[in-house]
Amino acid sequence: MKNTFYITTPIYYPNDVPHLGHAYTTIAADMLARWNRLLGKEVFFLTGTDEHGKKIEQTAKKAGKKPKEFIDALIPEFKSAWKKLNISYDKFIRTTDKEHEKVVQEVLQKVYDNGDIYKGKYEGYYCTGCEAYYTEKDVLNLKCPIHNRPLEFLKEESYFFKLSKYQKFLLELYKKNPNFISPKNRATEVINRVKEDLKDFSISRTSFEWGIPLPFDKKHVCYVWFDALLNYYSATREKRREKFWPADLHLIGKDILWFHTVYWPAMLKSAGLELPNKVFAHGWWTVNSEKMGKSAGNAVKIDQLINIAGVDSARYFLLRETSFGDDGDFSQEMLIERNNNELANKLGNLVSRVSTLAEKYGLEKAPAYIETTKFAHQVSEHFEKLEIDKALHCIFTLIDEINEYVQKTQPWKTGDKKVLYEIVSAIKDATILLSPFLPETAEKIAKTFNFKLAWEAFEQPLKVSKIKKSEILFRKIE
Ligand code: MSP
Repeated sequence: MKNTFYITTPIYYPNDVPHLGHAYTTIAADMLARWNRLLGKEVFFLTGTDEHGKKIEQTAKKAGKKPKEFIDALIPEFKSAWKKLNISYDKFIRTTDKEHEKVVQEVLQKVYDNGDIYKGKYEGYYCTGCEAYYTEKDVLNLKCPIHNRPLEFLKEESYFFKLSKYQKFLLELYKKNPNFISPKNRATEVINRVKEDLKDFSISRTSFEWGIPLPFDKKHVCYVWFDALLNYYSATREKRREKFWPADLHLIGKDILWFHTVYWPAMLKSAGLELPNKVFAHGWWTVNSEKMGKSAGNAVKIDQLINIAGVDSARYFLLRETSFGDDGDFSQEMLIERNNNELANKLGNLVSRVSTLAEKYGLEKAPAYIETTKFAHQVSEHFEKLEIDKALHCIFTLIDEINEYVQKTQPWKTGDKKVLYEIVSAIKDATILLSPFLPETAEKIAKTFNFKLAWEAFEQPLKVSKIKKSEILFRKIE
């Protein structure tokens, strides 16, 4: 088994503060990074910001600032949001980092030398919100389907990347690696579009300045997506991180699947670089069925999200509520309901009751009664298939089973130390499985019952120790 795991989030546009949509991908990636660390793998978890391009240039201009000055003020907002949400990233890359800019130029030169870049004229439609090209065929009324704003018509000299040359290569890639694009239903859309027609795409612009200059023609700046995708590679160019390349998993939203499964592998192939193992696209969070986002004006801010019921409740809700891959409608009521019924009632009460009893009566070693290994197997299988919500469901089935055992054995009446030991042992195992989802809560439980949050602790019997009643883990919200 490969002992490293490299996972990425998209790098976000710092044209505003992050919101729940960005948090979702980042929390899911964090959870997967933590799961892989738990399994003992050496993990590289990358996130960051996508800082060039017209969108950033325009937004900065509106704010009366230079692009770099404008972005620099927003980066702390991303970093502090990720800190609040307990995101355990290993590197935060910015596309204005000098090392990244150098790698982009190096790759551009290589692709150019391979004969895959030529000069032409771009004539067509563009959405600055998406930083993407559209054709009349893609859109209704020449409006961007995501931002619902009129598209811009561009006509300028530009360099093109010979994407059309890679049609056969891409189709073979999808065929040989059926999981390269996940989930499957999304793969079909991409494959059909690739089969239909694959046009070369413009990789440079002259009508604005905020970008990386092409090494072979400094009048042009690099198209922001060509620059941005390469972050995943440039982040591994440090000596100690070279071993992580290529990525095991690019986690993204469905809106940017085309870039990651068509442009990206073709660019890598042209540059003679290895391809990532998998791209997984999750769905959108909507509010009343409309995509949540800055432009729709319905975005839930990070502090708002955390203030509803705390960080772990927010993480739990986002990963439990929808089937990973599908869209989900966000509602504060549902988050509260899950916090109260699942986290507070099932998990919180269990830990509070059992720790109170363990403080009073103590524990005495006994063979494990509740069979937790089968749950670990099921949870691992769900992780393999990225069925995150199902993994959580499975862990809560174990928690239900522990609660039933408590009801059945009534240790508050008997004061049976052995029964209490069996229950705490099962709580230990459930907590270890839960730790990637609820890192803060898992730490509190582990501290209460004195065990380590590690795979070895799952396999080993619990040490008997003096227990003190736990603090309240989840408050019920009216
Ligand atoms: N900068 C590009 C990505 C470049 S990656 C090489 C970009 N940035 S973005 O700021 O617009 O963020 C896009 C990502 O944020 C989406 O792919 C998705 O992961 C996440 N989301 C933004 N809004 C979202 C929802 N409403 N729901 C779920 N995820 C969403 O595109």
